[in-house]
Formats: sequence, C-alpha cells, structure tokens
Amino acid sequence: MKQLSYKMQDMKASSVRKLTKYADDAEKKGKKIYRLNIGQPDLKVPMEYYDHIRAFQEPTVEYMPSQGAPELLEAVETYYRSIGIDVDRQHIYITTGGTEAVMFILLALTNPGDEILIFEPYYSNYNTFFTITGARPVAVTTRAENGFHLDRAAIEAKITDKTKAIFVTNPGNPTGTAFTEEEVRMIADVAKAHDLYIVSDEVYREMVFDGRKFTSFGYLEDVRDRLVIIDSVSKRYSACGARIGVLISQNDEILALISKLCQGRLAVSTLEQYAAVGLYSTGMRVIHEIRDEFERRRDVVYESLQKIPGVFCQKPEGAFYLMCKLPVEDTNDFLIWMLQEFNDEGETVMAAPADGFYATEGLGKDEIRIAYVLEPEKLRRAVEILGKGLAAYNSR
Ligand SMILES: Cc1ncc(COP(=O)(O)O)c(C=O)c1O
Repeated sequence: MKQLSYKMQDMKASSVRKLTKYADDAEKKGKKIYRLNIGQPDLKVPMEYYDHIRAFQEPTVEYMPSQGAPELLEAVETYYRSIGIDVDRQHIYITTGGTEAVMFILLALTNPGDEILIFEPYYSNYNTFFTITGARPVAVTTRAENGFHLDRAAIEAKITDKTKAIFVTNPGNPTGTAFTEEEVRMIADVAKAHDLYIVSDEVYREMVFDGRKFTSFGYLEDVRDRLVIIDSVSKRYSACGARIGVLISQNDEILALISKLCQGRLAVSTLEQYAAVGLYSTGMRVIHEIRDEFERRRDVVYESLQKIPGVFCQKPEGAFYLMCKLPVEDTNDFLIWMLQEFNDEGETVMAAPADGFYATEGLGKDEIRIAYVLEPEKLRRAVEILGKGLAAYNSR
C-alpha cells in the first residue's frame, strides 16, 4: 500500500486520552475509576440551551452564513460589550468549538517553518494544528515553583526573525495560572516591540478565583490590530458538546483569510448556534455559578493534596486544572500502575501524565495534571486514593 501522511504519523497521541485503554480494561475488570484526566465538566447546562433547541421549528435545517448565525453574532457582541471589550459583529466569526478557531488562526498566520512562541506546559491539542500547518511551537518554559508566571527576558530570548506570534492561554490549561494585568501588558509590549501577533485563548476567562480580576488582551487598545481572541461556550456554560467557538480579530487582513476558511467549510451547525443564543441569554448568572463551584472544588483538591507527603503543587488561580509534582520518577508508569495494579476498596484514579504538555523533551516526567471536574466528595476520595496509591507504589 502507498505511504500515508508523514505529518500525521509523526503526530503524538493526545496526552489526556493516552491512558484510556488501561482505564477501559480496568473498568471491564470491575474497578471504579475517578477520571480526572479530561476537562469535561459535569455541571448542568443551563435550561435556556434546551429551550432554544425546542423552539426551533424551521421546516428545513439550512446552512447558516459561514461567518455565523446573525442572532448568535449579536449575542456574542452583546456579551463582549458587557465585559468591556468593544467589538463589532463584523469582527466575530463563529467556529466549530474554540478548536476550529485555533486551527484557522494558525492556518491564517503561518507558513511552514514560522515560529510561534508559547508558554509550556501548554494545552497539548494545539500540537495537532502546529503539525498540520507546519508552524513550529517554540516553548518558553514556565515553572511550578513560581506558579507558572512569566519572565520578559526568557520570552525575548526565544524571539527570532521567524517568530510570528505569541500564543497565550489565559487562564492556563494545564497550569491553572491567571496572568496578572502586568504580565498581559508586558506580553503586549513585547509583541509591539518585535512586531508579533498575539493569539489569546481565553476560553476560561471568567474562571478566576479569590476575587482576582481577569485582564483580557481585548482591554488593550494599542494591540487591537495584532490581536486574535479565541473563545468558546464549552467551559463557560459547561457545554463542551455544543461545539460552538468564536474567533475575534479587528485586523481586516486576518479576517479576510479567516472568512475564506469559514466559507470553505460552509457553516457551523445551525441548531447548535440557535442553542448557543440561549446560553448567552443567561448573562453572568450561570457563568458566576460555574466559577464559584470550581473555586470550591479547587479548594478541596488543593487542601487534600497538601496532606500527601512529597506532593508539590501551587494553588491554582483559575480554570479547573492543577499541575502537581509527585514523588515518582515517571508519572506515566505510575498512572498505568494505578490502573492496572492498584485499587483501594475496588476504586482507583486516573489523571493526565504531564510530559505531553511540554514541548521540551524530558520536562514534566514527575508531574500530572488533575482536572477537578467531579463533585467535592468524589474529589476528596480521589485524592485520598492517589495518596494511598503513591505510598503503595513507593514501598514496592
Ligand atoms: C485552552 C483550551 N482552548 C481550547 C479548548 C477547546 O475548546 P472547544 O471545546 O471550544 O473546542 C480547550 C479544551 O479543553 C482548552 O482547554
């Protein structure tokens, strides 16, 4: 048979799903698994989502305009204005999840060999689109010891004449770090000084804890022409399966390319766009309920982890992830062992090995990412099992 795509064959498997086959086998053998590996919240989707689906009575399901359904563009514009970001609907494109927005912006900004600065550890699914486009992620390493915060000199040291953009995820997945106003300003200054675009993935925008103020790049007027915002309803409204995302830019040249890509894939799901109008109609009520619930869960996970000897993590500032160093050499081996060999009263835990979130070979081997997407009681129990598992693993 003829050779298949080299690009796709070289692509790494998703680090959050890497252990799924071990988990499935363990479940078949009757083990109960607390799954903390994937960012799929368990909270209820607002009723308005289903109300809008029920209200859909059109005789046909037509293609929507490729930019997005007019009602949804209006809802997104209203939402952005309500949070103090002045965008007009002509600057908004609806995409199939934030994921498609990531793919489209990398296609629009880069040629093969172009470099994108990105802070590692970073959301590993971006790698799919780095591979497809041939853009090269150039990682600026951030560290657990200082809460994965940024250093200007480290960023500037990685800029070359091939650098096209700085890619920011704020608040961060997998770090749970929310960049401060000063950090956001600093990145904007670096982008201006070196003539770079800024891609800001803000899908966790409202999920910041302890009364923190979130600073969007959208608040900075002087970088409007070089900024692209990625957004999504997935996390904000606990609606990952809706597959509705948003790409925003006020740069007409970028938008012209995004428009061509959107036309090429015709349209985003008609019904889901109607339903998403329902999500946005809930204003800040649902968003704040979801944030408060994750703050409670963050506290439970963080406090429970502090009780396990040899475990190190910073208190997350946002999103619903936590990076955690474990007293083991390789968390891949440990997590597989947890699924295959260990149980506490028939129960075990699954998390994501963190090496897949780093571009630099060798980093993250002793770290895991926990997505605290279960109810507090289940989280408490899951961390208890993790502690017992670590003790058993290290005394083998
Ligand atoms: C940082 C980040 N960006 C984008 C996405 C993808 O979002 P969507 O479901 O809208 O495709 C995720 C999903 O986990 C994410 O963590």
